[in-house]
Amino acid sequence: MSGVGETVKFDTRITRLLGIDYPIVQGGMRWAARAELAAAVGNAGGIGFISAHTQPTPEDLAREIRKVRELSPKPFGVNLTLLPANTGLDYEGYLRVIVENAVPVVETAGSNPAKYVPTFQRAGIKVIHKCTSVRFALKAEQLGVDAISIDGFECAGHPGEDDIPALILIPAVAAKVKIPILACGGFADGRGLIAALALGAEGINMGTRFLLTQESPMHAALKARMVAATERDTVLVGRSYGDSSRVLRNAVTAAALEREKQGGVTYKDLAPIIGAPAWMKAMEEGALDGGAIPAGMVVGLIDDIPSCAQLIARIVAEARALVGGRLRAAVEPDAR
Ligand SMILES: Cc1cc2nc3c(=O)[nH]c(=O)nc-3n(C[C@H](O)[C@H](O)[C@H](O)COP(=O)(O)O)c2cc1C
Repeated sequence: MSGVGETVKFDTRITRLLGIDYPIVQGGMRWAARAELAAAVGNAGGIGFISAHTQPTPEDLAREIRKVRELSPKPFGVNLTLLPANTGLDYEGYLRVIVENAVPVVETAGSNPAKYVPTFQRAGIKVIHKCTSVRFALKAEQLGVDAISIDGFECAGHPGEDDIPALILIPAVAAKVKIPILACGGFADGRGLIAALALGAEGINMGTRFLLTQESPMHAALKARMVAATERDTVLVGRSYGDSSRVLRNAVTAAALEREKQGGVTYKDLAPIIGAPAWMKAMEEGALDGGAIPAGMVVGLIDDIPSCAQLIARIVAEARALVGGRLRAAVEPDAR
């Protein structure tokens, strides 16, 4: 018997589906999810995703895919966030590059992936669809995706408009869909991983936690600001026009929320201050008030900047210690 050792792998439908040691996923993050981060997560036994739309052209995406492969022999994925049609991004080109390069797995998000799923699956590429409600999860399952990533209200970025926290959303989805589920939004440590498994998920997908690692490209000043933040330091912008986004509280979000309170605002009105170009520049430069910077409530649980290897080893060790220790002692006191 191998016992509890760091080299022992976890076994869930997610680890089997993706060919990874631990069911720990670094979700797609525009601007931040690049080759160095994804490779570091893969080398540590999880799986990382690079974001297609961080790369201006399909050729840039192809280069980034090659870079991940140079840095890691392990599986990795590409996040394909399906933004509204008028973005000017070459989605057909991204699709071609993903297929040509035989990327092992794609995480779709943003809207219905129906148009893309058959092409990926014909090419043997696994598809995880990330969504924010039971009804969207069911729809994705009907489309034939391989797994669902379900984002609770806590999450960084777009939580949808239903406001259902992960504690309810994960078991609600688990009760309805048969394919494996990744719990997403609010996870940062071994406690979260065990909670996710208990709720019916078979792994966790983390954004903010991986944004606050050594391999994340975000400027150190912003990493320090997020480490100092509490669970009360995120806000939702865009709620008044039905496109909520969870971001770090700062001077820009105060101004945006004031405009929203006055009423009659559209995304176009706020785009110059809360749009992606501003926050991506802020991440690069460490400008604390440079934009509406995506961050999850989980900033309140994060107080360091480990390497991805340190982080994943710690999550695995915490999870095992919890199950064999405090949880076992609580539910099987006589077994001690
Ligand atoms: C900086 C940043 C950028 C993000 N960009 C995207 C994106 O482009 N597409 C996407 O599907 N999710 C995006 N997300 C969401 C994450 O993939 C993930 O769903 C979310 O962070 C989970 O919540 P957590 O931060 O509590 O772990 C982003 C998150 C962050 C922090």
